[in-house]
Amino acid sequence: MNKYILCTNSKGGVGKSTLSLNLAITLSEEFKVAVIDLDHQGSLILLKNQYTKFNITNEQYLLYPNQEYDIIIIDCPPYLQKDLPKLIRLADLIIIPTRAGILDVLAMSGTVHLIEKEKMKHKSLIVLNMIKHNTTLTEEVLNFMVAHKIKIAKTRLSDLVSFTRSVALKGVFNDKKAQRQIDNLTLEVKNLLN
Ligand SMILES: Nc1ncnc2c1ncn2[C@@H]1O[C@H](COP(=O)(O)OP(=O)(O)OP(=O)(O)O)[C@@H](O)[C@H]1O
Ligand SMILES: [Mg+2]
Repeated sequence: MNKYILCTNSKGGVGKSTLSLNLAITLSEEFKVAVIDLDHQGSLILLKNQYTKFNITNEQYLLYPNQEYDIIIIDCPPYLQKDLPKLIRLADLIIIPTRAGILDVLAMSGTVHLIEKEKMKHKSLIVLNMIKHNTTLTEEVLNFMVAHKIKIAKTRLSDLVSFTRSVALKGVFNDKKAQRQIDNLTLEVKNLLN
């Protein structure tokens, strides 16, 4: 198995890098995993030496099928780079994290449009992130999201400090709620990769 997961959304600060890292942590318990940090401002790459169970790299040679890894997670920068269409075509699964606000859901349109152009909507998954405690999704937001005609992950990720800290603490092990959410999302991801 050599599968590519593309984590992308042209909207910044929606949790692409945090989610890429947490999925790498859980998936590397079972698979050989690499994370490619495509952000030139480099965030995940700065953590390279802290993680031993999977590889974090900014080298793009891994974008060509290789036998070295089972799963390669590509963490995209917020802006839409020129090679995004190529990455979309390469992906076995495209994860689009978003906050659950109307403007956030609308801001996904550029990304969704590119995915549509490449006929890859069926391989895409919207992940609702940073859901505030005690709030329900409003009908308007759901309507805007459903209009994108992309599968929405059953697992929603809450707005939790442990996700922010996970980058330094190498995961969310100390927070049962966050761990359950990441484990459930990992299961959904694995099912979609099969
Ligand atoms: N579920 C969450 N709960 C609380 N904070 C979160 C969660 N997910 C991400 N964050 C925080 O939100 C901020 C943005 O996250 P992150 O850097 O992962 O987003 P990004 O989409 O990669 O941003 P960029 O577009 O700049 O690359 C960070 O401070 C991160 O710790
Ligand atoms: Mg990022």
